[in-house]
Amino acid sequence: MTPFNIAIDLPPAPIMISHLLMELVPVDAVAYETHSLDTAYPLMAEEVSYVATSVPKRIREFSAGRACARAALRQLHIEDFPILAGAHREPIWPAAFAGSITHTKEYAGAIVVSKDDGRSVGIDAAREGSVGEDLWREICSPLELKWLHGLTTDTARTAASIIFSAKEAFYKAQFPLTGEWLDFHDVQISIDDRGFRVSPLRALRLQSIAPAWEGRFHVTCGLVLTAICIR
Ligand SMILES: CC(C)(COP(=O)(O)OP(=O)(O)OC[C@H]1O[C@@H](n2cnc3c(N)ncnc32)[C@H](O)[C@@H]1OP(=O)(O)O)[C@@H](O)C(=O)NCCC(=O)NCCS
Repeated sequence: MTPFNIAIDLPPAPIMISHLLMELVPVDAVAYETHSLDTAYPLMAEEVSYVATSVPKRIREFSAGRACARAALRQLHIEDFPILAGAHREPIWPAAFAGSITHTKEYAGAIVVSKDDGRSVGIDAAREGSVGEDLWREICSPLELKWLHGLTTDTARTAASIIFSAKEAFYKAQFPLTGEWLDFHDVQISIDDRGFRVSPLRALRLQSIAPAWEGRFHVTCGLVLTAICIR
């Protein structure tokens, strides 16, 4: 392992099991998270080149995501697995597993599922309220916009963050199966008490692979967490 000492003498924050992330998918999963990214985590030699010339913030986020992912793999009896990245930044998991990584300035998490349970999984974290009204048109479909405009200001800010995060989680889940890049206007999110549903607004490759796309979300301590498992 290669340490990146961004803040000297400050040990990285603990990586903890995340029951919350695990409950966001309808299959057996292992997830880990950390709530402080003040210091970078050790990387495996094979991973260092991805951030060798990156700014400290990127090194902290990348290494925290890898540390969470490695903790999850360890629980599945896979030790010291270097998590390489594909040409489109997608993490490469051991063949029998699917997984996903997310990070914000102060949070990182990773989830891993067996491919026997889920063909792919995507998670995303976003700060609650981070998607201001000035961004809604970039992210939302006309129907999503109409729905947001009918909500109270505070509820709409949270709802916009959920829509944004759900689309990113969906993108991460579908990409390993399809290799398809998606625009925010390619899908539409509908939200109810139980979770969210993703509907295509144009023909998507995933439609020939899995028919229904449903995910779950949780809002906690200013953080929106979303997850979707494609079976
Ligand atoms: C990749 C993306 C979804 C999220 O990146 P982000 O803003 O940095 O958000 P997060 O921190 O939550 O997630 C980053 C992690 O996602 C993972 N990721 C990146 N690209 C990925 C891909 N193509 N497939 C699967 N996972 C991917 C990586 O693990 C990455 O972290 P790492 O580079 O440190 O390994 C975003 O940057 C992007 O490219 N969006 C455009 C496509 C999109 O979101 N469309 C939405 C319409 S459905």
